[in-house]
Amino acid sequence: MVISGTTRLLGIIGDPVRHSLSPRMQNRALAAAGLDYVYLPFPVAPARLSEAVAGFRAVGIHGFNVTVPHKVAIAPLLDRLSPEAEQIGAVNTVHNEHGRLVGYNTDGVGLVVSLREELGFDPNGAHLLVIGAGGAARAALHALCAAGAGRVIIINRTTDRAKELVERYGLLFPSTRLEFRETLPQALPDIDLLLNTTVVGMDGISLSADPEALADTAVVYDMIYAPSLTPLLGAAQRRSLRCVNGLGMLAAQGERAFTIWTGLAPPRGLMKATLEEA
Ligand code: ATR
Repeated sequence: MVISGTTRLLGIIGDPVRHSLSPRMQNRALAAAGLDYVYLPFPVAPARLSEAVAGFRAVGIHGFNVTVPHKVAIAPLLDRLSPEAEQIGAVNTVHNEHGRLVGYNTDGVGLVVSLREELGFDPNGAHLLVIGAGGAARAALHALCAAGAGRVIIINRTTDRAKELVERYGLLFPSTRLEFRETLPQALPDIDLLLNTTVVGMDGISLSADPEALADTAVVYDMIYAPSLTPLLGAAQRRSLRCVNGLGMLAAQGERAFTIWTGLAPPRGLMKATLEEA
């Protein structure tokens, strides 16, 4: 890649951001597509977020990704939000559109693409069990409901957050039946997809949900990708259930961001392959 006077700037802001795989995956795709952009990591402390956004405006950044802990806090600093970002209440992609910073959320759509491509799973009419009610769950559920999910049960350590999510999305998506539960039901014969959106399993914390209770045809998705085989996925594999980790979602949200910034589709499969290598 040759950086010149015309190279456009992309990047990611987070705190920390050094472990992010996005710079590697985006630069690889940009180079393969022959595009004159560079994508850099920007560690930004929460107290300096508004300064960072002002700086990005001043230098005319073309676009950037937003990661933990800025996804919610950045929304009021932008000029406009897409309907999805507005409804989810979080932004993971920003595009500079003629000087106006527009916030998008590609996380949920990334999940739905990953479910379709990797598991052949279509959320339309499906019954889902979602573990967690944080930012990741909000983005995921939004896209799943928009894709026509029939029924969703949400379980979260803090039940009030699950309840809040049920109320909020119940109004937005009247054709999806949303419920929250205090504890995991013993038997889950009607569940088509078990989705973990929490960090449980990241460092070997005990299982939050037991695939034993699922039907043989159910699929399991764990948004965690490090470790690549979480205890939840291990248990699903022992049951011979179709299951994947969150790497495909990470790639698909990045592909969607790439398209927002460049107007082009990235080289097919390259982002996922780059993540697998990393
Ligand atoms: P994110 O944006 O990644 O979703 P978040 O908004 O902090 O981050 O949400 C983290 C999710 O993981 C929440 O559902 C959280 O449960 P609480 O709402 O009760 O906090 C869940 N979580 C985090 N640590 C957990 C743990 N040790 N056991 C169970 N759930 C946990």
